[in-house]
Amino acid sequence: MKVLVIHGPNLNLLGTRELDVYGDQTLEDIDALVAAAAGEAGIEIESHQTQREGEIIEVLHGGVGRVDGALLNPAAYSHTSRAIADAIRAVPYPVVEVHLSNIHAREEWRRTSVTGEAATGVITGFGPASYVAGLHALKQLLEG
Ligand code: DQA
Repeated sequence: MKVLVIHGPNLNLLGTRELDVYGDQTLEDIDALVAAAAGEAGIEIESHQTQREGEIIEVLHGGVGRVDGALLNPAAYSHTSRAIADAIRAVPYPVVEVHLSNIHAREEWRRTSVTGEAATGVITGFGPASYVAGLHALKQLLEG
């Protein structure tokens, strides 16, 4: 089983960015956590981080025929990007949207996720554990 992990804009700055909201773990820490959970679950991981909306779409397209699912944190694009939402709808594999913070407990504009509307499911508010929970949810889904 192979799973894409896609981190959107500004997530490269985790560990120094808004520590009260996102905690002190870096993106490398999160990737290591996900890799460890994936190793235990027998899942192969391919991780990407980009600031660019189009690149998120290209990485999703690039997974077609190659991966069984994706974990996606679109970051702020969650709240705006109908193009990423359509890409999620266009790929044949399940996409689980994850957020570190609870987007429903923050500013009004963060409470809507247009990409989340297209995702198979959304896990929000558990910090780095959102990614691990998303990985386990994907595995259960794929194994039926
Ligand atoms: C985020 C939540 C988004 O609203 C925000 O723009 C991010 C991170 C999260 O993981 O909590 O950059 O996706």
